[in-house]
Amino acid sequence: MAQQTGNDGLVFYVNGKKIMENNPDPETMLLSYLRKKLRLTGTKYGCGGGGCGACTVMVSRYDPQTKSINHWSVNACLLPVCQLHGAAVTTVEGIGSTKTKLHPVQERIAKAHGSQCGFCTPGMVMSMYTLLRNNPQPTLEDVTEGLAGNLCRCTGYRPIVDGYRTFCESESCCQLNGSACYMANGNGNGNENGSVEVTEKDQPELFSKDDLLPLDPSQDLIFPPELMRLAEVKDQTTQRFCGERMTWISPGSLDELLQLKADYPQAPLVMGNTNIGLDMKFKGVFHPVIISPTRVPELFKVTQKSEGVCVGAGCSMSVLKSVLERSIKDFPLEDTHMFRALLQQINLVGGQQIRNVATLGGNIASAYPNSDLTPVLAAGRCTLVALSKDGRRRVPIDKDFFLGFAKTILKPDEIALSVFIPATRPNEIVHAFRHAPRKENALATVNAGMRVWFNENSNVVKEISIYYGGVGATILSADHTSQQIEGRPWEEAVLSDAYRALVDEIKLGPSAPGGKVDFRRSLTLSLLFKFNLLVLQYLKGKDVTQGEIPQKMLSAIQPLPKNTQPGYQEFQNVSEGQSALDPVGRPMMHRTALSQATGEAVYCDDLPHTDGELFLVIITSSRPHAKITRIDCSEALKLPGVVDVITAKDIPGKKFKTFSGYDEELLAVDEVTCVGQMVCAVVADSKAHAKRGAAAVKISYEDLQDRIFTVEDAIEKESFFLPKRMIERGDVEKGLRDAEQVYEGEIRIGGQEHFYLETQSFLVVPVGEEKEMKVYLSTQHPTFTQESVAETLGIPSNRVFCHVKRVGGAFGGKVTKTAILASITAVAAWKTGRPVRCVLERGEDMLITGARHPVWGKYKVGFMKNGRITAADFQYYANAGNTADESVLVAEKILLHLDNAYNITNLRGRSAACKTNLPSNTAFRGFGVPQCMLVIESMIDDVALKLGRLPEEIREINMYKEVSLTHYKMEFDPENLVRCWNECIEKAEFRQRRQAIDLFNRQNQFKKRGIAIVPIKYGIGFAEGFLNQAAALVHIYKDGTVLVSHGGTEMGQGIHTKVQQVASRELNIPASSIHISETSTQCVPNTCPSAASFGTDANGMAVKDACQILYNRLEPIRKKNPKGTWQNWVSGQTIKIVLSVFRGHDLDMDWEKQEGKPYAYFTYAVACSEIELDCLTGEYRTLRTDIVADIGRSINPSIDVGQIEGAFVQGLGLYTMEELKFSPSGVLYTRGPGQYKIPSFCDVPLKFNVYLLAGSSNTHAIYSSKGIGEPTVFLGSSVFFAIKDAVTAARKDAGLSGPFQLNSPATPERACLACATHFTKMVAQSGANSGPVQPWALNI
Ligand SMILES: Cc1cc2nc3c(=O)[nH]c(=O)nc-3n(C[C@H](O)[C@H](O)[C@H](O)COP(=O)(O)OP(=O)(O)OC[C@H]3O[C@@H](n4cnc5c(N)ncnc54)[C@H](O)[C@@H]3O)c2cc1C
Ligand code: FES
Ligand code: FES
Repeated sequence: MAQQTGNDGLVFYVNGKKIMENNPDPETMLLSYLRKKLRLTGTKYGCGGGGCGACTVMVSRYDPQTKSINHWSVNACLLPVCQLHGAAVTTVEGIGSTKTKLHPVQERIAKAHGSQCGFCTPGMVMSMYTLLRNNPQPTLEDVTEGLAGNLCRCTGYRPIVDGYRTFCESESCCQLNGSACYMANGNGNGNENGSVEVTEKDQPELFSKDDLLPLDPSQDLIFPPELMRLAEVKDQTTQRFCGERMTWISPGSLDELLQLKADYPQAPLVMGNTNIGLDMKFKGVFHPVIISPTRVPELFKVTQKSEGVCVGAGCSMSVLKSVLERSIKDFPLEDTHMFRALLQQINLVGGQQIRNVATLGGNIASAYPNSDLTPVLAAGRCTLVALSKDGRRRVPIDKDFFLGFAKTILKPDEIALSVFIPATRPNEIVHAFRHAPRKENALATVNAGMRVWFNENSNVVKEISIYYGGVGATILSADHTSQQIEGRPWEEAVLSDAYRALVDEIKLGPSAPGGKVDFRRSLTLSLLFKFNLLVLQYLKGKDVTQGEIPQKMLSAIQPLPKNTQPGYQEFQNVSEGQSALDPVGRPMMHRTALSQATGEAVYCDDLPHTDGELFLVIITSSRPHAKITRIDCSEALKLPGVVDVITAKDIPGKKFKTFSGYDEELLAVDEVTCVGQMVCAVVADSKAHAKRGAAAVKISYEDLQDRIFTVEDAIEKESFFLPKRMIERGDVEKGLRDAEQVYEGEIRIGGQEHFYLETQSFLVVPVGEEKEMKVYLSTQHPTFTQESVAETLGIPSNRVFCHVKRVGGAFGGKVTKTAILASITAVAAWKTGRPVRCVLERGEDMLITGARHPVWGKYKVGFMKNGRITAADFQYYANAGNTADESVLVAEKILLHLDNAYNITNLRGRSAACKTNLPSNTAFRGFGVPQCMLVIESMIDDVALKLGRLPEEIREINMYKEVSLTHYKMEFDPENLVRCWNECIEKAEFRQRRQAIDLFNRQNQFKKRGIAIVPIKYGIGFAEGFLNQAAALVHIYKDGTVLVSHGGTEMGQGIHTKVQQVASRELNIPASSIHISETSTQCVPNTCPSAASFGTDANGMAVKDACQILYNRLEPIRKKNPKGTWQNWVSGQTIKIVLSVFRGHDLDMDWEKQEGKPYAYFTYAVACSEIELDCLTGEYRTLRTDIVADIGRSINPSIDVGQIEGAFVQGLGLYTMEELKFSPSGVLYTRGPGQYKIPSFCDVPLKFNVYLLAGSSNTHAIYSSKGIGEPTVFLGSSVFFAIKDAVTAARKDAGLSGPFQLNSPATPERACLACATHFTKMVAQSGANSGPVQPWALNI
């Protein structure tokens, strides 16, 4: 409990209601305060570290100086409640509700289909709302900038942008949906011959913009006048709040601040809390005293002089941005180089929410190596005023200011008061550079600030300053390089000396933190080269030099295109005769999208606290392979609030779960086999207490030396989960012998973290009698959890009731691991007899729950000169991790899809699941298919490169074209595959663009474009027949309303909406009369997982059958009263209930015979993507993507298009950016959005078109539809191959031809190094990397 301190307390408002806290706990952040104390659960926890935006709220403050009210979007997870004095907080609940009135930002995201699982939606809503509060008529750029700090894992972002572009003031021709304009080449993605058409088409739209609520600012909550009065008070008193462990002091004046700093020199100053907050949260740093000077006016003072601007160190990045924008206007253009350079960097610091709170002083004082500001501040001659009780001093912010990682020359009792940013002098220019793993909202890999000052009317350098970030423990001044330039004319020979000096000056050992050693070094050269071009341009502009920059090089300093254009979604109208009431085949909003957008939608952790509830925190192994010698809980049990420690001994029933014949311990007993394996758990009366308890548990280990991390290690030590599988058709050896050429190649595909926005969450409530347990959780497979909990507790299944209201994203990651975690939570509830909640932190989730399998694919291919492939032999090794989980099944599915869309007569595949000492991998959307298909497509690329032909030609030559047998002897008709291919070529104008790209590539040396078209044939259904079944329970109530329950879980894929449409058609009543409340093992038993793209196929059928039975039962009544309404027929009847079971397809695969019918049918699709690549940095933009998908007759085009786009963008992440990194001792480095980058708004193709193939049908699934949840993940590889295409063009310039290995993901690092530019070669040849040879990260 916090102690009373006797000061005035904290006054703030939340959604118009006054809150007074006399003694808030300094360790409480606004997010948990809102969710737990105020029960405002609309604001979500996604990462806790400012990286996802799920917790976005608006904070408004009154500024007594300007007499204005400022609104800021902020991350509630990083905002200490103690900092809220005088603030008005607005949450998603405060702006609108389904019960009263929606706000247009809530309505539009929902209606535009921008909410799938909905977990990110409140955060999106609040970012957009804040933007509109500040700017009711934003541009599209404002919208994407305002949303850049928000992540979504489901939608692919396009519908969110489309929904919110409706607020833009002037929808230019490029912003109108379905408009005819298309960007010309050079500015966007048109071709070289000029603009490319998109014609107005008479097509139905996914959502209507006609009846949208207008934006009416007069409806917004007013700022509380009381807070204005509070802000006007001149003498602010010191606030001091004492929590259980920490004291918070907020001084009201500068003098007090300096006194406090003298009294508590070790106490940090908490400003934006974006650095110190992360240290305390994630690194276990503890500060007993914290000083928060956010109410000291001097820290926010801004003054402009003729020599520059002086900015208070407390100013946030957003304020600094406005200051610089103003200065750029106020100063003569020549003087503003420094301001512009700094502004460019600030615009890319974090997302909007971070920029709104992170301060200039905090950024400098944090002194971390890849700050975007410090290299520019240092290069640009900025100075800082340091202040203490002993006096003030002005110090330059230069290399001597930064002493090392997180160390500056500031003394413990000093504060940074202000920073002076000088205007540039005549003949001086400053530029800033930055390269990051994602274009927005990502810390830089390498950044730089460079300044040069010339002699008057000369190109002779008077002074030069070059600073880099990201290449050492602190920023680095390239002094030696600068010396090569200083005093000499700015010309090629001098710069060549400088590059040579630089490559010697910046050295990174192979184990340098952050890895990417060669890439980072080559970036330092590339950025200097870019600076060179900019300087040459400047000198040319001043007529100081005569030489022209060669035209071919100019694009090196032009930014990549970034203008988003409206996408086009084509689908078929329902037939003319279809009743207007029948929703099947029509776009229909996700049934709870509005509740998701208002924050009313309930996720597992939104359930209210139950009486006596405990919180559970899992303790995991810190060793990759070791014996557990002791678990010492004694200290933990002494801590306040800690109730118990749960170990394997406490499990009353089965202590393990069995997968594919292998047992997986729920909690480790004697031995651990990976870092992150669950060992025990602490339960306490609060999350904070449970965390502290967990930190106090001591586990002693005896390390075992035989560690296996990579697939190579596993192969060498024959460490596999058996059986290994093999499949073969034809005679591969003969096919290879008959071939005119044979080539052997390989590719490695990295794993992928699910990154569902809602982490694994559970609430287990013991009912108190007859051993009944209620389990509320977020899972794709409630029955599996039910069985697991029952087995673990040793009770029958009929005592365990699993309830799933909705799932905040799953993607395969909420099946097996979820069941294990639920079982552990259930043991705690069983043992303590109290309800137990467990919600994993993002980092815990990423560590414990596994990911997509990394795969090493090797191949040998035989082919003829005409491009025909005669034989292919594949070998796949999947890194399964330490337990079997579903890895053997993944390895099998790999073999069933190894052919993708190609008819290769002699074909063989072998696959093995490697057992390693890494966390166990599990199912992920596509279940091995996205990996194996990348292997065959890479092989095709290699064949093309060997033959000097285009990959699309080889694809076309080898594609299945007529009724065929797969390699497991299943007959199918590829007609729609070929149609998708042809339509995609045509709609994407592939051939014209290929020509335009060739021309572009000839004209540009350092920017290259690439294009690729990739098909997919994807089998739908489970190869185990029993998994294709489903059941449904339908209740008809006397008032005519209907409650449908079925076995599918709603996780954003829209299954409940489609099922509602099915029931509406079958019962012939409006969809609004049909409700789906939850998925519960109590209503529908023995359900199958919502997976394999089969959810609607199976559950939709069950609901259809059930509704038909009921409708038929009503027939006598209908006949008696043919003119009656539904209401008449059902009222007065006994309540109708029916449970229907749908027995699905009998699918199976006989691995002995290597044949079977493992799939009900195939879904086909083709994607074409074009990218532009910066060869100097590896950065790229997807200019355009066109997808043609055969999904039969869509039940709901808006949902299906959403699945296609969302999966595509997830695939784009898999193949081009998402990297899981492990330390050499098997520790996962990437444990949050800070280190692990999923696609963001900036990664969506600038033009994104989706076409649903017309005239397709499918006799194997409900209403002729097809499953689509998984297949299009693979289409993201069209971006991978487009990058490879661009790299091929760059390599051609470098004199390289033929196949080359580009591993996945094709990150900027890989793409840049593969381009083999002059600079990457310089680094490779320098061989100057020094230090221990152990690389920083494993290549698993
Ligand atoms: C999600 C996320 C994304 C980010 N992206 C980027 C990015 O792209 N580029 C980039 O450069 N940075 C980025 N950052 C880092 C961010 O810019 C810094 O954390 C921030 O500037 C620090 O300021 P603050 O006010 O939050 O500092 P706090 O966390 O409040 O304090 C940090 C430290 O600075 C000290 N301090 C603060 N003010 C003063 C002062 N006036 N005098 C003396 N010491 C002081 C404190 O004692 C403390 O030790 C990101 C951070 C997050 C969380
Ligand atoms: S939860 Fe706050 S940003 Fe992710
Ligand atoms: S809808 Fe955005 S994360 Fe699910």
